[in-house]
Amino acid sequence: MDAFSSLQRSIEKLVRIRCSSYKEDYIKRRILSRMRLTKNESYEEYHKYLLATPQEVDLLRNALTINVTKFFRDPEVYTVLRQEILSSLIQKRGTVRIWCAGCATGEEPYSFAILAHDLLEAKPGASVSIYATDIDREVLRKAAEGVYDRRAVEQVGERELRKHFTARDDGMFEVKPHIKDLVRFRHHDLMSEIPAARYVDVVSCRNVTIYFSEKQKNDLARLFHSALLPGGYYVMGKTEYLGREVEHLFSPFNSAQKILTKKS
Ligand SMILES: C[S@@+](CC[C@H](N)C(=O)[O-])C[C@H]1O[C@@H](n2cnc3c(N)ncnc32)[C@H](O)[C@@H]1O
Repeated sequence: MDAFSSLQRSIEKLVRIRCSSYKEDYIKRRILSRMRLTKNESYEEYHKYLLATPQEVDLLRNALTINVTKFFRDPEVYTVLRQEILSSLIQKRGTVRIWCAGCATGEEPYSFAILAHDLLEAKPGASVSIYATDIDREVLRKAAEGVYDRRAVEQVGERELRKHFTARDDGMFEVKPHIKDLVRFRHHDLMSEIPAARYVDVVSCRNVTIYFSEKQKNDLARLFHSALLPGGYYVMGKTEYLGREVEHLFSPFNSAQKILTKKS
């Protein structure tokens, strides 16, 4: 077995990531970046380093999952969003603005759009705009295409799948235009200190800040606070948290689902 295949085997076992679910080129790029950072010159050398360095397992996992996402990731969050947040915003306001920050390949903003579309059907005249941003232009290109494999849509119910996606002959699922029309994709760096959208009712920034320093996380919380309308919602990833310095800016809305509301 060659050095790369043998390394992949260990990655499957230690990192518990199925390398075959990714393009080989993607896996190689991420491993090479870890090799550069850890000053290992060959796959063989890096393989030995990985086996001898437990913390590298986590760092490699993070490097490999940097763009990982799926439709309705953590479905409980979407249940709260639909039942307790979006339905009342659409009823009360009529115009609802959502910013999905760090949207990767688009599954998260399209999940919001699916929820919103079904609620809008019950409230003629209301509208929802979803601003979806990411720093990676390549993922934004894929997001705008809106074509996904079966794994990405496994949390989408059969009824929603038929209603909002076109099943293609090659086994892929394409988001239908009535959902695409609710989402605008744009390049934006969350560290730029300028919000990509203002006067928004909801900011969803999930599984993005795990690579950010404490200062960057705090600056980002301030940025979201300035972008949100009074009483607006900030949805964080399940493993993310608000730093002490910025705790006073938000109140908990649903602690289990990491949803906060803006204090004015
Ligand atoms: C793991 S994905 C999260 C996708 C989605 N939010 C979810 O929870 O499923 C993290 C995304 O954050 C983006 N990202 C990382 N740093 C960023 C930055 N400074 N500005 C904007 N996006 C960034 C990455 O390009 C990647 O697409």
